[in-house]
Amino acid sequence: MAYEVKNYDGLLGLKGFSDILLKNHFTLYSGYVANTNKLVDKMNAMIKEGKTGEPEYAELKRRFGWEFNGMRLHELYFSNLTKDPISVEHAKKVHKKMIDDFGSVENFEKDFKSSGAMRGIGWVITYYDISAKKIFNIWVNEHDVGHLSGCVPILVLDVFEHAYMVEYGLKKADYITSFFSAIDWKEVEKRIEWVKD
Ligand SMILES: [Fe+2]
Repeated sequence: MAYEVKNYDGLLGLKGFSDILLKNHFTLYSGYVANTNKLVDKMNAMIKEGKTGEPEYAELKRRFGWEFNGMRLHELYFSNLTKDPISVEHAKKVHKKMIDDFGSVENFEKDFKSSGAMRGIGWVITYYDISAKKIFNIWVNEHDVGHLSGCVPILVLDVFEHAYMVEYGLKKADYITSFFSAIDWKEVEKRIEWVKD
């Protein structure tokens, strides 16, 4: 079954994010969904045609993680934003992990924001390591380089220029501050709760 474009129009009017910025971003996201479906179809067709040894097949394989993650990371990003944010203290498990692993919420925030301020295009992701029960803020280059295996992404920030340039120009730090004020901690908590202890 093909992947479907999810609707995030409920975010329109979000403080710090103009509707133009968000609508452009939704359009860009839909391109990743279309390309993910296209790659799945093309690879399936090549399997049927016995062309899996062709260099074209290998290139589609290489491309897949880039398009798929481009799709899924945007979904995680949009859905961890809200117009009605609650304080992080209400996300009990996430809050405890911040204290346990970073010493304080402030330290977590400092680490997350500094990761986002790095030069380059990509994502900042708070990953929950299922095995060690620890959280890490990591940098993912573009969509596919730097992910942590066996970990669950619980908080996702887009730091490609298209995510903020329209609104903030080069003031990336201001964009990250707006993002931080709009995090849906309920959603982040839900993501960590999916993992059985
Ligand atoms: Fe994006």
